[in-house]
Amino acid sequence: MSSTDAKKDGRKKAKVDGATETLEVNNLGISWFAPFTVLSTSSISFFRSLRENLRVDNLVSTDQFHFTRKSQLAIGQESSRVVENDLPGLVCNDLCNGKENICIPVTNEIDVPPVAPEKFEYLSSIEVAKNFVIPASAEGCNCKGKCTNTRTCSCARLNGSDFPYVRKAGGGRLFEPKAVVFECGPNCGCGPKCVNRTSQQGLKYRLEVYKTPDKGWAVRSWDFIPSGGYVCEYTGVLMKTSELDNVSMNDYFFEIDCEHTMNGIGVREKRLGEVPISNGLGAGEDGGDKLLVESDPDYCIDAGSSGNVARFINHSCEPNLFVQCVLSSHHDVKLARIVLFASDDIPPMQELTYDYGYELDSVVGADGKVKELACHCGTADCRKRLY
Ligand SMILES: C[S@@+](CC[C@H](N)C(=O)[O-])C[C@H]1O[C@@H](n2cnc3c(N)ncnc32)[C@H](O)[C@@H]1O
Ligand SMILES: [Zn+2]
Ligand SMILES: [Zn+2]
Ligand SMILES: [Zn+2]
Ligand SMILES: [Zn+2]
Repeated sequence: MSSTDAKKDGRKKAKVDGATETLEVNNLGISWFAPFTVLSTSSISFFRSLRENLRVDNLVSTDQFHFTRKSQLAIGQESSRVVENDLPGLVCNDLCNGKENICIPVTNEIDVPPVAPEKFEYLSSIEVAKNFVIPASAEGCNCKGKCTNTRTCSCARLNGSDFPYVRKAGGGRLFEPKAVVFECGPNCGCGPKCVNRTSQQGLKYRLEVYKTPDKGWAVRSWDFIPSGGYVCEYTGVLMKTSELDNVSMNDYFFEIDCEHTMNGIGVREKRLGEVPISNGLGAGEDGGDKLLVESDPDYCIDAGSSGNVARFINHSCEPNLFVQCVLSSHHDVKLARIVLFASDDIPPMQELTYDYGYELDSVVGADGKVKELACHCGTADCRKRLY
């Protein structure tokens, strides 16, 4: 097709790495139909220059921008359970073996021959360790269908008389990080589509696990993720931190520490015993359902031998995700669910990262010596060490 023909049918053509891509520009945004071969190295910078040159800065949802690593034409969400086996470096079609609503391909263009990640059991939700009892589910709201009325929904009241998630079209995005998000739970009258169950509704964006040259495995999204978008929960085995064997040997455990999560790095130094978290409950209006955090995080999620895609998300000193504590059944913040949300608009194929929040010199090895780990996040303000 000549460039004139391309203009005639509303398409523009661009040359990248000697291969041809087809752009379709319409008043909603862009669709990009590209042969997969051109996307491996230049995709992100190409995408950026595309946005700048075309002045398309209102891309807010996957519906408006469709990015695909598949060859031929764009795929729809309905085909998200299918991955073409011609993805470069594909070592596994679906990390989760059908346990999520979307498959998670794994690629490795680094190792020769390419290897898959070490075996682990995929858990789409938290598993509770043996002999560990989680508190009973809290009382729920009396809403029907979807929770919409902030005055009558008791779950909205727990969130400071508002819903934590955006409700209009393209909804299900968190407005802002909160001390804790109270979602609807098993005793609520609303159904599974209630927006106040956003983190219980499965993966929304197509994630890929891929190998990096210097950080091991990593995760990126094929879809544009808007700021506040739900990415995934951190699953694994919920247990007492004291029962975790040889903590320093496990790269995949997550301490449930909502106070630290909320306030950022440095809070560990300031722990003063029991600290009430401001949780929007108001002055005892709801019967004194106070959130108290003890001085050390007692519980953790061990994703060493079983977990989900979150166990492959790396640390960055300038991350694009944040950790949000979410309560959706019981209301014990020490056992909150750990959920990752986008802290910014994230273009397709950008590595997804969050701040692990380690304090320097806080990790001690089995030999009693302080352990150090160099950070390869590559950002301008990199702190140089994870711990
Ligand atoms: C939860 S795992 C993340 C997935 C991991 N890359 C893998 O291959 O399975 C945490 C480990 O990844 C590596 N890692 C994560 N972020 C890193 C970073 N910014 N720089 C260097 N290594 C990192 C470290 O080995 C860390 O202990
Ligand atoms: Zn609800
Ligand atoms: Zn409700
Ligand atoms: Zn509810
Ligand atoms: Zn860094």
